[in-house]
Amino acid sequence: MADPRNVLITGGYRGIGLSVAQAFVRAGDNVIVVDRAGEPPAGMLGVSCDVTDTASVDAAFTEAEEKLGGPIEVLVANAGITRDALMMRMSDEDFDTVIDVNLGGAFRCARRASKGMIKLRKGRIVFISSVVGLYGSAGQTNYAASKSALVGLARSISRELGGRGITANLVAPGFIETAMTAELPADVKKTYLAGIPAGRFASPDEVAAVVRWIASPEASYITGAVFPVDGGLGMGH
Ligand code: NAI
Repeated sequence: MADPRNVLITGGYRGIGLSVAQAFVRAGDNVIVVDRAGEPPAGMLGVSCDVTDTASVDAAFTEAEEKLGGPIEVLVANAGITRDALMMRMSDEDFDTVIDVNLGGAFRCARRASKGMIKLRKGRIVFISSVVGLYGSAGQTNYAASKSALVGLARSISRELGGRGITANLVAPGFIETAMTAELPADVKKTYLAGIPAGRFASPDEVAAVVRWIASPEASYITGAVFPVDGGLGMGH
């Protein structure tokens, strides 16, 4: 087994982030989850952090590094929100808030994480995007824009830091069974299901396995890539 790495997952108290955290724990890594509210899941090291606030991100990383005894080698930027509305009815606030959490939060965490990774001369950054980032989604102009922007973020980081042993990739999940998707109306779910070649939705564990692999030593020569985990929903996009 490879040496344990220090892994930090944002939005890791529940849903996909928690499944990702559990996958790294099972692989023997040192894991810390950060989230803006609530208590860390039982048995997990946790730090509270709001990814929209630079000071909060800096403090959370510093605390995480103290607790884990060294820099973060793997960042999974997973924290994300939706504020859906058709564009004509979408408020500036709903647009800005989603961009600030999903894109700004990912940027703040990657910027902070890169300091330690540069010292280590290795690192893995995995952004959790979404199939709708490249496929588009009526009622989600804010969310889809935030998720496709992560492509430019990861590719620019790849160009800036690729020579230092740091990779930056995206995982773009399709329809995953979590609290976020449980809120969707039944007719929307039915429409999505009809467009998924796999004929089913996915479990968060199916996303977590891909994230863990991209962060593994085996994926050392992959950077700036988008990995769909969507049962074929977004094929070609
Ligand atoms: P979730 O709502 O269950 O979990 C998101 C976590 O992010 C929560 O624990 C929440 O507290 C945290 N969070 C939100 N704002 C934050 C902030 N400002 N600072 C720190 N933490 C914050 O969502 P889920 O479904 O697990 O999604 C995780 C990621 O996967 C999100 O980025 C989402 O956009 C993405 N995704 C989810 C899909 C799905 O089908 N559930 C499909 C495609 C992408």
